[in-house]
This record gives sequence, structure tokens and C-alpha cells, in this order.
Amino acid sequence: MKIGFLGAGQVAQTIARHVLPLGHEVVLSNTRGPQSLQVLVKELGAGTSAGTPQQAAEQDIVVLAVMWPAVQAALSSVPDWSGRILVDATNRLPRSNTLSPGDLPERTSSEIVADLAPGARVVKAFNSVPMAWIADTSSSKPNTVLFVSGDDQHAKQPVLDLVQESGLCGIDLGSLRTGGGLQQLGGPLAGIRLTAGERFTS
Ligand SMILES: NC(=O)c1ccc[n+]([C@@H]2O[C@H](COP(=O)([O-])OP(=O)(O)OC[C@H]3O[C@@H](n4cnc5c(N)ncnc54)[C@H](OP(=O)(O)O)[C@@H]3O)[C@@H](O)[C@H]2O)c1
Repeated sequence: MKIGFLGAGQVAQTIARHVLPLGHEVVLSNTRGPQSLQVLVKELGAGTSAGTPQQAAEQDIVVLAVMWPAVQAALSSVPDWSGRILVDATNRLPRSNTLSPGDLPERTSSEIVADLAPGARVVKAFNSVPMAWIADTSSSKPNTVLFVSGDDQHAKQPVLDLVQESGLCGIDLGSLRTGGGLQQLGGPLAGIRLTAGERFTS
């Protein structure tokens, strides 16, 4: 698969380090242009390239990996979200600026992301743990649990597969409203360190 990133910071780099050894390709982007990412592209190695946010959004899956105040600008830099799988890895920080429209306390942060990317098939993932907990990309890494939520099962499945393939444990929590609310910052399942052990069979 080809995975595009809006953002090239800690989240984008950590996910890239998990998926590149599996043979997936990544396209990183930021506001400063592809040239500014050349050192990082070299460091991450084969399968990595840099592009514009628009080019990143044209990949099989695009991950939103910007800080909350930049969400609206990042999403609006892509003219057409129709049908794209958009993985929302962001956390809505308390006290950060509000986004419009739809940035209301009763909306989950991924519902707000979905409002700002009309037509996108939004999946919330990779937001629920600090990246430091999944920085280990070795084959002996802990099977860390990551929660995944979304309203479109056909969009959610490849994201769950990617998490699983990366040696992490994806758990489907349901919709953007219910699951998204559980795993978003401030929700009861955010920032909880869980690892999957062996399955009990009788
Ligand atoms: N770090 C973690 O452990 C962690 C864990 C879970 C979730 N999260 C959440 O994930 C998101 C990303 O976190 P991070 O730690 O990766 O942040 P980060 O290291 O600060 O990276 C943010 C990236 O976004 C880029 N960016 C800013 N505005 C942009 C735009 N309009 N279009 C495209 N790229 C843009 C920045 O590059 P330029 O400024 O050069 O454009 C930078 O590369 C945040 O919402 C955070 O709350 C973080």
C-alpha cells in the first residue's frame, strides 16, 4: 500500500518506521514543501518520498498527523476528499483554538475532522497512545493495543490490517461517535497502556 501523511512529525515518522519494513510506501508532506523533507526522506530510506499535501492525500490511505490547531488548514489544502480513507491520528488539545464549522463540545474530534473533509471515509487510529510507546519497531516489540474507530467498515478494515501487520494489536471500538469518544483525548480509553498477550484456548 501507499500511505500518505499530512504532517511529517513524530506520528508520521513513527508509523512510517513500522510500515516501511513491510514493503509499504510512504509520502510525507508539510507546509514547507517537499524540499524541506529531503533529509528525513533519506533517513527513513527506501520506499519514502516527500510531496505536497495534495499528493499525500492521493495515496491509498492518508493519515492526518498535524497538531489540532493546524487540522483545518491541512484538510482544506486538499480540494476533494471524496471516497478517500482518512486516518485521523490527531488529538484535540484542551485550550487550543477552535475549528469551524462544527467544533462543538458534543461532537467527537473525529466527527469534526469528518465535517472538515467532506466525503472522506474517516477512521480514528494511532491517537490513543504516545508514540514513545510504539517507538520499538523490532520483531520483539510488545504487542501494544491501538484502538480504531470509524463508520465505514470497508475503510476501517485496511487500517486494522495495517496495525496488525505492524506487530501491534488493533481493536475496533465501533463508530466515530461511540468508539471515537472512547479513544479520543480525555476519553476513558485514551492513554492507557495495554498489550495483548497469548489467547486462552480451552
Ligand atoms: N506525538 C505523539 O506521541 C502523539 C501520539 C498520538 C497522537 N498525536 C497527535 O498526532 C498529531 C501529530 O502529532 P506529532 O507529534 O506528529 O506533531 P509534530 O511532531 O508537531 O508534527 C506535526 C507535523 O505537521 C506538519 N504540519 C503543520 N501544518 C500542516 C499543514 N497545514 N499541512 C501539512 N502538514 C502540516 C508540521 O510541519 P510544518 O510545521 O513544517 O509544516 C509537522 O511535520 C497531533 O494532533 C497530536 O496530538 C501525537
